Amino acid sequence: MKARELLQGVHWVGVNDWDRQIFDALVPLPEGTSYNAYVVQGSEKTVLIDSVEPQFYDQLDERLSSLGLERLDYIIANHAEQDHSGSIPDVLERFPEAKVLCTSMCKKFLKGHLDLPEEVFQVVKGGETLSLGDRTLEFIHFPWVHWPETMITYLQEDKVLFPCDFYGVHLATNDVFFSDKHKLRDLAKLYYAEIMMPFTNIITKNLKRIEGYEFKMICPSHGPVHTDTTWIMDLYRDWITGPPRNKVVIAWATMHESTRIMVEHLTEALTDLGVRVELHNMEAGDTGKLASSLVDAGTIILASPTTLTGPHPTVAYAAYLANVLRPKAPFASVIGSFGWGGTMVEQFLGLMPNLKAEILEPVLAQGMPREEDFAKLNQLATTIAEKHKDFAKAD
Ligand code: FEO
Repeated sequence: MKARELLQGVHWVGVNDWDRQIFDALVPLPEGTSYNAYVVQGSEKTVLIDSVEPQFYDQLDERLSSLGLERLDYIIANHAEQDHSGSIPDVLERFPEAKVLCTSMCKKFLKGHLDLPEEVFQVVKGGETLSLGDRTLEFIHFPWVHWPETMITYLQEDKVLFPCDFYGVHLATNDVFFSDKHKLRDLAKLYYAEIMMPFTNIITKNLKRIEGYEFKMICPSHGPVHTDTTWIMDLYRDWITGPPRNKVVIAWATMHESTRIMVEHLTEALTDLGVRVELHNMEAGDTGKLASSLVDAGTIILASPTTLTGPHPTVAYAAYLANVLRPKAPFASVIGSFGWGGTMVEQFLGLMPNLKAEILEPVLAQGMPREEDFAKLNQLATTIAEKHKDFAKAD
């Protein structure tokens, strides 16, 4: 396994994890993932930026060997999570002269997770630079993207950004310059939804730290390298601060068909009014697709039968997921059915305190929906279409 050259003196030395199907027992990986590490060689010093999951160290080691490195001066740890830091002890065993450069909080995490001794660390401040001879690295603290200790690294002369998880994509590929934009966009949106969306406020603040910088290449820690840097940065800007789309996301489940009938009726009514509907049957439970769908939704509808006085557990999970991911949807509602009573709406709202959405009038039917219930669903569709009238068309 060889290092792959990105530009003279800058190489990808990462690993593809072709078979990984889930991350953190939560994030589905339909296309596997990669753990990217990079070597930057200056006229005087050589650095490794990030490392790989520890069980893949041998592959990183082989790629480093292919470069014929005799010494390594620094290991830059942009982020302490194991998929990027886990091999640092192995790298240090091979290159004991190397210093680990990171933020002070990252140092604390790495000492705790990897049991590294104090003397290997060199803490760097935000804005600090490191000369490699004819090349200069700049460290930019970028907290909460997506852990509190994170920083990003900028290679000034070549205008290359190493943002670790930021701008990443879970995709295993041997093509480091993979450029199928359609596929990349879908995977980038899924990645953003599950990893970055909960932190949009602080990401917005952090982005101000790199305003005015020029980027010819962005080398994240997962997935391919971006050479069309404007494209990925514009996508993120739209997902973070762009307007919601004229789109309703319905997370639903049914027990005795009444909720299904209501969902189908509302979907038809919305479609007739020109509103895009994306349906997620929570019985199937593809949380990745649901998360991605939430990124630019205008309205979120939770549709559930009443189960033991409250929401069906699968739809309650959708509400919980929306609450932790904090999508920007300005509107939400609940529809569904009940047999003899319950507090389903109240329980749903209690699961979503983080959502800033205005709650539109819920529609609950006793047993099978009747004409009066369909009329209320029609009214809900009309209200949504009116609320969405200034939203951009759904992609
Ligand atoms: Fe890819 Fe936050 O680790």
